[in-house]
Amino acid sequence: MRTYRKLLARSTAVGAVALAAVSLQPGPAQAAPDPAGSVHTQVVGGTKADQGEFPFMVRLSMGCGGALYAKDIVLTAAHCVDGSGPNTSITATAGVADLEDSHAVKVKSTQVLQAPGYQGKGKDWALIKLAKPVDQPTLKIAQDDKLNSGDFTIAGWGADKEGGDQQRYLLKATVPFVDDATCQKAYGDQLTPGDEICAGKMDTGGVDTCQGDSGGPMFRKDDAGQWLQVGIVSWGDGCARPGKPGVYSEVSTFAADIKKAADGLGG
Ligand code: ARG
Repeated sequence: MRTYRKLLARSTAVGAVALAAVSLQPGPAQAAPDPAGSVHTQVVGGTKADQGEFPFMVRLSMGCGGALYAKDIVLTAAHCVDGSGPNTSITATAGVADLEDSHAVKVKSTQVLQAPGYQGKGKDWALIKLAKPVDQPTLKIAQDDKLNSGDFTIAGWGADKEGGDQQRYLLKATVPFVDDATCQKAYGDQLTPGDEICAGKMDTGGVDTCQGDSGGPMFRKDDAGQWLQVGIVSWGDGCARPGKPGVYSEVSTFAADIKKAADGLGG
């Protein structure tokens, strides 16, 4: 399943259409495929973000999203990377909503740290150390579960519908929190409730992250009105289907581990 997800993330970047059918369904979700599920997606039901609206957003060259945890460290999903160690193969594009904007800042990776113990279920986070700092604001991560509810913002350059193309312009949308019990009804044992937080419109669907959004942040305002990251795009059964919320790594669960890992990267 882990391999499968990696393939999905990459394939989306390269040929969303050809690979779309496969990429939609991460691991266990495929056990009970829905016919519509054989297609794929990205930020579905969203609108274009303004330049500078989410300055911490990063596009990664393997076809994933990410957020600046530090000026030279990107927080993304474990399933977007191959493992841990020196790695100069990833390019991060930052500072732009339009990936073709001439002001885009492109920086190479130097190291990757995949969540210790990641085996394709839960623990879907990773850090990418950049060759030099990016001059953009970082995104704070949730340290506890106090704000793991309400409405969340999602953003990414992934597909705008199942089987859709990757996007040139950053898309954004708002999705409501879905509690663990409800999410478990949708996904059963595929869900790892302590590691994952769900969001989406259960009754109507229509708004969700999708293929190519993986690794990007799900965030909301904190009590001081500052953006706070509560999730990392991880998986879902198709995209934006009614009754099938998006599943995100629960950042507060991993906050201490992420900090420790970042410290180890000199972050
Ligand atoms: N695994 C996908 C990726 O690699 C993300 C899928 C998110 N799906 C969802 N329905 N929210 O891009």
